[in-house]
Amino acid sequence: MMSSQHFFATAAMGLEEVLAGELQQLGLRDVQAGRGGVAFTAEKLDAWRACLHLRTANRVLQPIAEFPCQTSDELYAAVMELPWEELLGKGMTLAVDANLRDSQLTHSRFVALKTKDAVVDRLRDHTGWRPNIDPKSADLRINVHLAADHCTLSLDLAGASLHRRGYRHDPNLAPLRETLAAGLIALSYWEVESPFVDPMCGSGTLPLEAALMASRTPPGLVDPVYSFQSWPDFDAVGWTQIVEEARAACQPLLAGQIFGADRDPRILAKARRNAEGLPFGSQLTWQQSDFSRLRPPRASGTLICNPPYGQRLGEQEQLAPLYREIGDTLKQHWTGWTAWIFTGNLPLAKRIGLKPSRRIVLYNGPIECRLLKFELY
Ligand SMILES: C[S@@+](CC[C@H](N)C(=O)[O-])C[C@H]1O[C@@H](n2cnc3c(N)ncnc32)[C@H](O)[C@@H]1O
Repeated sequence: MMSSQHFFATAAMGLEEVLAGELQQLGLRDVQAGRGGVAFTAEKLDAWRACLHLRTANRVLQPIAEFPCQTSDELYAAVMELPWEELLGKGMTLAVDANLRDSQLTHSRFVALKTKDAVVDRLRDHTGWRPNIDPKSADLRINVHLAADHCTLSLDLAGASLHRRGYRHDPNLAPLRETLAAGLIALSYWEVESPFVDPMCGSGTLPLEAALMASRTPPGLVDPVYSFQSWPDFDAVGWTQIVEEARAACQPLLAGQIFGADRDPRILAKARRNAEGLPFGSQLTWQQSDFSRLRPPRASGTLICNPPYGQRLGEQEQLAPLYREIGDTLKQHWTGWTAWIFTGNLPLAKRIGLKPSRRIVLYNGPIECRLLKFELY
């Protein structure tokens, strides 16, 4: 019989409940939303399945040790105690991430380095070989979380952030994180059979995530490569079955359902190119247009977009007319639709001039943002 283990899936702040809902849908147990993520219990294969299916998680971490830690010597000694030779087979590569909060140790790079030294020294002492470090795509990525002098060491199941779906060829200047885009769509309660429009789609992240959802395609299916596939306990037969089941459950995407538009033809070309990487990519509709001239494809549907929100001084005033125009266009032409605007600039959001019926607080990295709902009767 397989034994259950504890896991922690991380998400952008504000998306924890959405992620908890996803984990529950996957049938995982003891799902508990916290700050910046959700704890759950699962058997190994179900945790791997979660990596494939989760849309809003950035990482799935498996805690393997916890201990009090105030100094680098304490950290080194505690990490040295662990049987790394059981987790790192010969030839496997290693990486360490560290996040710190309210602790005596204050430099995350130093903490990561000290942890790496302890792992490497332990392996050298016990096996005589030392792993190479691969910061980008390590076979074993260790996460050190030090909060109020309490250290949690975890294995990062996927080994890279799950927002990297594998469909983005050429990121433009301000793409939305795929996991955040999926979270915005989940929060909008878009019914996947109804029309979806992003009128300022940039590289297409929102329409592409919408298409993955509507076709029931797990985001990991685009490029299913994870660190746990290199681990000594990897079960290739079980994993193949998980991937095959996910493939079999995908549904065709109807044409004329999901739309992306942008006024910039060069950025729109990137969106098209990103869509080409997906099996149903040709079913999406792209249109080069200024939002003020774009008309709804049907009588009702869901519109979601993140307009530019200008982080530098002076940009706010330049963008004010755009936000006013968004409000005017929605009011004049999008009656019958539900619109959701995601922005990190609250003064600009007020220029839309419509009263939101919901305001949801979310974080885009460190930036506090709002997802605003406008019901256009
Ligand atoms: C913050 S970016 C959107 C990023 C996008 N969500 C992504 O993931 O790549 C804003 C986009 O709005 C577009 N835009 C700005 N003003 C517009 C307008 N009036 N009509 C249509 N698109 C506009 C820009 O060209 C830019 O691509």
